Amino acid sequence: MSVDVTPLFRPLKIKEKELPNRIVMPPMLVLRGLTTPGGVDWYGGHARGGVGVVIVEATAVNRFGSELTAENLKPLVDAIHEGGALAAIQLFPVTLGRSVSPAEVDRSEIEEIVTYYRAAAGVCADAGFDGVEPHGAHGFLLNQFFSPVQNKRTDEFGGEIENRMRMSLKIMEAVRPMCGPDMVLLYRHTPVGQGYGIEESLILAKELVKAGLDILDISPASTERPGDRAAPFKNLGVPVIAVNELDEVERALEVLNEGRADLVAVGRGLIADPDWPIKVREGRFDEIIKCVRCNEKCYGNLGKEIPIECTQWG
Ligand SMILES: Cc1cc2nc3c(=O)[nH]c(=O)nc-3n(C[C@H](O)[C@H](O)[C@H](O)COP(=O)(O)O)c2cc1C
Repeated sequence: MSVDVTPLFRPLKIKEKELPNRIVMPPMLVLRGLTTPGGVDWYGGHARGGVGVVIVEATAVNRFGSELTAENLKPLVDAIHEGGALAAIQLFPVTLGRSVSPAEVDRSEIEEIVTYYRAAAGVCADAGFDGVEPHGAHGFLLNQFFSPVQNKRTDEFGGEIENRMRMSLKIMEAVRPMCGPDMVLLYRHTPVGQGYGIEESLILAKELVKAGLDILDISPASTERPGDRAAPFKNLGVPVIAVNELDEVERALEVLNEGRADLVAVGRGLIADPDWPIKVREGRFDEIIKCVRCNEKCYGNLGKEIPIECTQWG
């Protein structure tokens, strides 16, 4: 294959941070722990494989401060930095020990979740993370607050879009000051969901930017064409990440060359082959261990609550 891969390897400056290239490892639950040798090796190995940014898997905010501390997270951050990547982490809204919909979260619990987010971001900053990402995507709690179908509240957190955005914006306002000048603030959002589409998502995205967002992570971002769902968010003044089967190099390049996003996230492709970025940079396409989308040992293992693996590993 003779293709010009240089667009994937252009650095990008965001605030004080220099992203060495445009390749992002998106958050993926691997169930190896974050403070265990297995977890640290997993993420360190991916950093050594050449990604620009590692976004560590969805982690419940109530785990920080008690189970997860700046001290015990530092080896993870160090391993990612030593591998040559920036380290971010996705922050998952605690669901208060039970499965809840927005209507079941009472006012004091809203404050509790926001407080957990603030504290978690503080721990992440102290641990040396370069970024934190509230998880607002994929039909989980923050996404449900935004959805007019899933959010049945009748107070100022439900109803009109201004109200349905309030939960996410409260979290952004709480997290932003904890980031200081050095840590970047990401947000993962699903652009088309239950009862809303791109138009409503653009309203949210603009408010997120006003609240201090540094990078918008759109997922899913590809439907008919790679990155087509990320493209509408491109001109809001912050870089945009696109995802979905961008381990196919032509697809990743199309996203960047057509200007549909600024960064490309490679998920399952990086589970199959952590060295995907280096191999692409060096033109060793034949050596890439390809994801075949069987989902058997990645999503499949998640369902069984065991560490994820890949059917394509030798
Ligand atoms: C095993 C596994 C775990 C995942 N865990 C998360 C997660 O913690 N948070 C999240 O936002 N997305 C999660 N995802 C979705 C990925 O971040 C990504 O959006 C998805 O895999 C599509 O990208 P791909 O086609 O490159 O694999 C997960 C995906 C997989 C395969």
